[in-house]
Amino acid sequence: MRVNVTVNGVQRQADDVWPGESLLYVLRERLGLPGAKNACEQGECGSCTVYLDDVPVCSCLVAAGQAEGREVRTVEGLAEGEDLHPVQQAFVDRGAVQCGFCTPGLIVAAHDLIERTAEPTDAEIREALAGNLCRCTGYEKILDAVREAAAKKAGVV
Ligand code: FES
Ligand code: FES
Repeated sequence: MRVNVTVNGVQRQADDVWPGESLLYVLRERLGLPGAKNACEQGECGSCTVYLDDVPVCSCLVAAGQAEGREVRTVEGLAEGEDLHPVQQAFVDRGAVQCGFCTPGLIVAAHDLIERTAEPTDAEIREALAGNLCRCTGYEKILDAVREAAAKKAGVV
């Protein structure tokens, strides 16, 4: 089947999509967007998180057909041209990346948090990232990065 979807503001089309194919597979293998990662393919790790109509979802659990006519925003779509989004920049600046497999999902989850919550508490940050697992376990630096991005957005640093 054919799937039409707007991805990062651009109308895209994928052909020969198998009915059981995931949105994650379509993004990575058909549309050339490898940012979202396939780590568990079971909705357990959050590495594949993207926005679907402005709601973060595990794209490995979304059938490609469910995205028909909808808007998807991936980690690639957060940057403004050559400029990283402040959340992305904070992950770089704080060294919050080890193997990087969890990073795109964490960045989308953190982006969603600071869009919704001006000055999140540590508890709110932990809650927002609870669905995103880092196998390298560098959580302290990840928390530092989210704190920094939130503070910059709120204009307190
Ligand atoms: S790859 Fe989708 S939740 Fe792990
Ligand atoms: S940096 Fe390796 S899984 Fe998080």
